[in-house]
Amino acid sequence: MRKLRFGLIGYGAWGKCHARAIQETAGCELRAVSAASDTSVAAAASETGAAVFRDFRELLNSSEVDVVDIVVPNFLHEEIACASLESGRHVLLEKPMSTSIASCDRIIESARRSGCLLLVGHEMRFSAMYRQMREIIDSGGLGRPRYVLIDLWRRPYRLGSDGWRFDSRRVGNWTLEEPVHFFDAAAWFLDSSGEPAAVYARGNRSDPLGAYHPEMNDNFTAVVSYRDGAYAVISQSLAAVEHHLSIKVFGSGAMLRAEWHAELDRSERPSYSLQTSDGSGLKDLEVAATPGELFELREEIAAFADAVRNGRGLPITPEEARRAVVLCLEAQRSLTTGAAVPLTAAIPTAGS
Ligand SMILES: NC(=O)c1ccc[n+]([C@@H]2O[C@H](COP(=O)([O-])OP(=O)(O)OC[C@H]3O[C@@H](n4cnc5c(N)ncnc54)[C@H](OP(=O)(O)O)[C@@H]3O)[C@@H](O)[C@H]2O)c1
Repeated sequence: MRKLRFGLIGYGAWGKCHARAIQETAGCELRAVSAASDTSVAAAASETGAAVFRDFRELLNSSEVDVVDIVVPNFLHEEIACASLESGRHVLLEKPMSTSIASCDRIIESARRSGCLLLVGHEMRFSAMYRQMREIIDSGGLGRPRYVLIDLWRRPYRLGSDGWRFDSRRVGNWTLEEPVHFFDAAAWFLDSSGEPAAVYARGNRSDPLGAYHPEMNDNFTAVVSYRDGAYAVISQSLAAVEHHLSIKVFGSGAMLRAEWHAELDRSERPSYSLQTSDGSGLKDLEVAATPGELFELREEIAAFADAVRNGRGLPITPEEARRAVVLCLEAQRSLTTGAAVPLTAAIPTAGS
């Protein structure tokens, strides 16, 4: 069978990881790359051996590209995703889906019109450890899930090419960078409680990098509540060191605790553990494969290729990726107003 030919748009810090993951995935081939600056055009040409285009539209005009993988700054997601879908390509789009709800809706509408697949890169859904947690929840192993606590403390974000990640007009806001994963994961673990009903958020600054981005918070906490009384707490601090993520899910009968620690988020040698307790001590659970975003990226690309080739289902829908953006934007609104934001009007999916 012919290999699935990928066109990769964006060859920055994470785009390079995508390039390697595509090249390492059986049945997949990196055929073309689009990059913006002279430096990344030259790096893509020498490091990948793929055809390199400066304008993503030239990549889309190539007859050598079957699917498109988009790894560019957040504010460019809509334009490039819509053009890629409308060119008839299945699309893997990095998170966040986009920086506004209207923009997410336009991407979803392009996917609907084109009939092409759209997978948004919420890689926690592909993690052996977090999938195992969800399977235990689904099997009733915790009883009714009632409370999810997700706590990340880490070193400050990478600036991003041309400093886009520290510019609110281009990043959207910082909750769209990392908490967007946790809003999605919490909603995934609390699936049996339905859609979130409200979000309340607080944040402030510790200034680890200096005060040149005063509109953004280094410390951020959100409470997402559900109509049946379940709730999730999502907390992040960038005023720290290394990368330390702790996720706990408490049910009516038992709890789960997942820990992931490494010097860097992209470590291939993290320390990690998954434990459960029904109140009589903590029991270690074996995890089938090492968790971590580099591993999950490979799983994500393999699953996307399998979905394109064999029609296999994907673990996250575009509407769920949109919901994670809604939660980020409404949490940001709560930060600004100081009040909880009801979600009844915001959550319904595009077209509903
Ligand atoms: N799922 C995850 O865990 C995860 C992790 C990291 C990042 N991300 C997401 O991935 C995206 C990229 O992040 P990053 O860290 O890789 O940022 P980055 O290092 O700044 O890379 C962005 C790349 O996009 C390129 N670019 C900008 N405009 C372009 C255009 N019009 N056509 C083609 N390429 C263009 C830039 O080119 P130049 O280098 O030439 O300027 C740069 O190489 C963001 O949406 C981010 O949120 C997701």
